[in-house]
Amino acid sequence: MPLIEDLLDKEVVNNPYPYFHQLRKEDPIYWNERWNGWVFTRYHDISKILIDNRFTAERIRPSKNMPEQMVLDMASTYEILSKWMVFNDPPNHTRIRMLVNKAFTPKAVEEMRPFMHEITDYLLHHVQSKGKMDVISDYAFLLPILVISKMLGLPDEDRDLLKQWSDDLLLLVFGAVKETNRHERAKNGLQQMVYYLEDVIQARHKNPQNDLITALVTAKEKGDVLSMGEVISTCTLLIFGGHETTTNLIANGLYSLLKNPAQLEKLRANPSLIHSAIEELIRYEGPSKAIMRIAKEDVEIADKEIKKGQRVLLMQNIANRDPEVFEYPDKLDITRQSNHHLGFGKGIHYCLGAPLARLESTIAINQVLKHLKNIQLERTDLEWQPNIISRALKQLPVIFD
Ligand code: HEM
Repeated sequence: MPLIEDLLDKEVVNNPYPYFHQLRKEDPIYWNERWNGWVFTRYHDISKILIDNRFTAERIRPSKNMPEQMVLDMASTYEILSKWMVFNDPPNHTRIRMLVNKAFTPKAVEEMRPFMHEITDYLLHHVQSKGKMDVISDYAFLLPILVISKMLGLPDEDRDLLKQWSDDLLLLVFGAVKETNRHERAKNGLQQMVYYLEDVIQARHKNPQNDLITALVTAKEKGDVLSMGEVISTCTLLIFGGHETTTNLIANGLYSLLKNPAQLEKLRANPSLIHSAIEELIRYEGPSKAIMRIAKEDVEIADKEIKKGQRVLLMQNIANRDPEVFEYPDKLDITRQSNHHLGFGKGIHYCLGAPLARLESTIAINQVLKHLKNIQLERTDLEWQPNIISRALKQLPVIFD
């Protein structure tokens, strides 16, 4: 099979696995001229690079061929994104993550449990009599945005604004390279979000509340605190990271179960399998397709020379189907044990929100199975969003009794 250069080719986006299995066999460390970087598909290579400090996470910078005027226009956007912990190496990363950990605690996540039940009850009650819904717009999008807004202390009514700004930002951060005006839209989206947050953060300085923004403003570690700029940046990261990916985990997870009805019935019959089921749903069709890093020095891996400054694209979802590591990798098995998938990354940048994402998707999927009888896909010709980083359906229409 000739290699398709375009990683956003419609066929590859809609069904990536046959193409990437082939690529893993033929050229597991593949130079992609069009993307201008190395594409990694083997579990063990990816796993090693994620803990190799010869590769940097500091990848927020204008591309080489960006026109000068655009570089100037985008400077403020890159400035904010460059404070996201996920785009920092130690010691900056260590410092910010330690301070954010003081605020984003297991207790703060656990306290959201009753609210998650309340929202999912409400949303499902709303659609039940209709006998159909689009899982994404009617259900999976709303839960994570409402939860992260509540944790931060932002009003529910602002969720559509936050979603719009975050969607615009996604075009840049998740590499939707085929979208027109993506830089301008991302810049405007992030700028609006920052203006909005500045007011809230000022208010919390004066009048502390019992919420995550106040906890970030007051977080202290050995006399060190987050600067105003770092609090704003971190809030934009939590809003962005806190809902897009979790929405997709709920939607992709339900989609995978509906395509594998025997597994769905197994879970319905034995709800205690939900924890291994969630890990398997992340492995099988996880919402994060790839992680990017840049080589800080020349690195030799297998027979390939990765040159200093070159980009590497670590295909997590493809690693999660590597037959060297997972038995019957293309089979969904909700009872799978020792499931060391890379869906939340690995090493120092391991997803900070993983416990929150796990809890939200557990509740969201359990509630659907409990409330919606005889749920089925309305159509099977579904389309996926064309971007490099996230695995996201455009719509997921389902019917039920
Ligand atoms: C299923 C849902 C999610 C998936 C698949 C996911 C995936 C990931 C991945 C792969 C990384 C590592 C990126 C890298 O190494 O460059 C990451 C980091 C991160 N995630 Fe998530 N994420 C999810 C949900 C969340 C949620 C709900 C939040 C917050 C509310 C969140 C906040 C973060 C943060 C702050 C980081 C940066 C951690 C660091 O750099 O130390 N994520 N996530």
